[in-house]
Amino acid sequence: MAEFIPVDPFNLVIFGGTGDLSRRKLLPALFHRFLDDQIPLNSKIVGTARSEMTRDEFIEMAKTSCKSATAKDTWSEEHWATFAKMLDYSPLDIAGPEKHWKELSSKVDFDRTVIYYLATSPSLYVKICHALKAADMVCDACRIVLEKPIGKDLASACAINDGVGEVFDEEQIYRIDHYLGKEAVQNLMVLRFSNTLFEALWSRNHIDHIQITVSEDLGLEGRAGYYDGSGALRDMVQNHLLQLLCLIAMEPPNSIHADDIRTEKIKVLRALKPITGDTVKRNTVRAQYVEGLINGQPAKSYLEELGDDSSETETFVAIKAEIDNWRWAGVPIYLRTGKRMSRRVSEVVVQFKPVAHNIFDISLSGPNQLVITLQPDEGVRLSMHIKEPGPGGLRIKSLPLNLAYAENFMLRYPDAYERLLMEVARGNLSLFMRRDEVEAAWTWVDGIIDGWKQSDEASQTYAAGSDGPIASAMMMDRDDRAWHVRTTPKS
Ligand code: BG6
Repeated sequence: MAEFIPVDPFNLVIFGGTGDLSRRKLLPALFHRFLDDQIPLNSKIVGTARSEMTRDEFIEMAKTSCKSATAKDTWSEEHWATFAKMLDYSPLDIAGPEKHWKELSSKVDFDRTVIYYLATSPSLYVKICHALKAADMVCDACRIVLEKPIGKDLASACAINDGVGEVFDEEQIYRIDHYLGKEAVQNLMVLRFSNTLFEALWSRNHIDHIQITVSEDLGLEGRAGYYDGSGALRDMVQNHLLQLLCLIAMEPPNSIHADDIRTEKIKVLRALKPITGDTVKRNTVRAQYVEGLINGQPAKSYLEELGDDSSETETFVAIKAEIDNWRWAGVPIYLRTGKRMSRRVSEVVVQFKPVAHNIFDISLSGPNQLVITLQPDEGVRLSMHIKEPGPGGLRIKSLPLNLAYAENFMLRYPDAYERLLMEVARGNLSLFMRRDEVEAAWTWVDGIIDGWKQSDEASQTYAAGSDGPIASAMMMDRDDRAWHVRTTPKS
């Protein structure tokens, strides 16, 4: 039986309450946790946005979103009616009249935990924080949640962190990276630090290299404006891929306390070897998709989807990263992410070194690999060499020890936002990024962006529906390595 950690009644105010994130993720996440009996009935969820909308209209909008995100056999009008009693709406123009803020303030109980969730453009974060202060809505029991992206480079991230920090203490600030809320990502820590098996092997002594891939088959999905100003490096590497890298490479924290974990993660980020002018050409590949085929269907090019043929924004990036510390010196960590690739998959591949003295011919069986699939079919596979039974000589085969989640747990997979929202309500910061983490990640990423600006090398292209540009395969080939190829069917 799952054991739920209780949550005290809370007030949640969602800025950008009618927006895409609120409708697709936040409201359904809250509804699911309500169905799991985790949200006390006297909690309040207040949406706020510029739209003039009544409470009933907001509830209707929320119902449509929650219903479409809920399995048919789980939906119940009765449950919905109870949940809807917690919902409210308050129209608000941030720079607008004082009465808007007064109205919002009147809907919040300041004698309990108050969560402000900023699901708005980051350019509004500092303004909202100062407006909250001016409206006398900031108290010790307040927490503020910031969605990514926190800035578009180190300078803008510092400006946001400084501005928000003028109103809230660091312990009140929850910077979201939704990958940290995914079940399989949390399992990375358990796998590493709860099994005796791996620690002795987890270093340059036994690991040849590591690959982290987050590939998507989706394209712009209506986010052209944001994405074109960002690109794959800022949108995915600066946050999700570097957070995965931290969890894979960090030293064991002293405890699961937020600051113990975050202190170990920041050490990894600070030990990343800078990739700048000289090394950017050799250690990075950036590319944009051109037209191709996805699941047999013609797919447009990025420029066509965008409706602007002058954009040079990268939709794919591959990087050879290195961590300059005792544990990882000389072990490359290859990162790869892209849109409109052949399949949606996020996985970490840890490739072990060959045995010191090989008495068999293992040329056909490949190396030992630990493949941790984060999505879509969560699982852990450890490839082992065995003797193929039967006559016909000594044949060695590589077979996986397979820990597929679906076969072992009959659970509904909670969306990452469910856990993250509940952790904010509980006041647990361990799944959120500390200021110094965000800034260290930008420092490394800014070096690459500057290197690209100075480089004379043109961005590459790849066909939509492929595994990225040839240059990315060549980057591996130069090191006598290859990207891991998934053999499981697409799901
Ligand atoms: C977001 C990016 O942070 O993560 C999107 O902005 C990307 O571009 C998304 O599609 C991927 O998240 P997930 O959970 O679908 O892997």
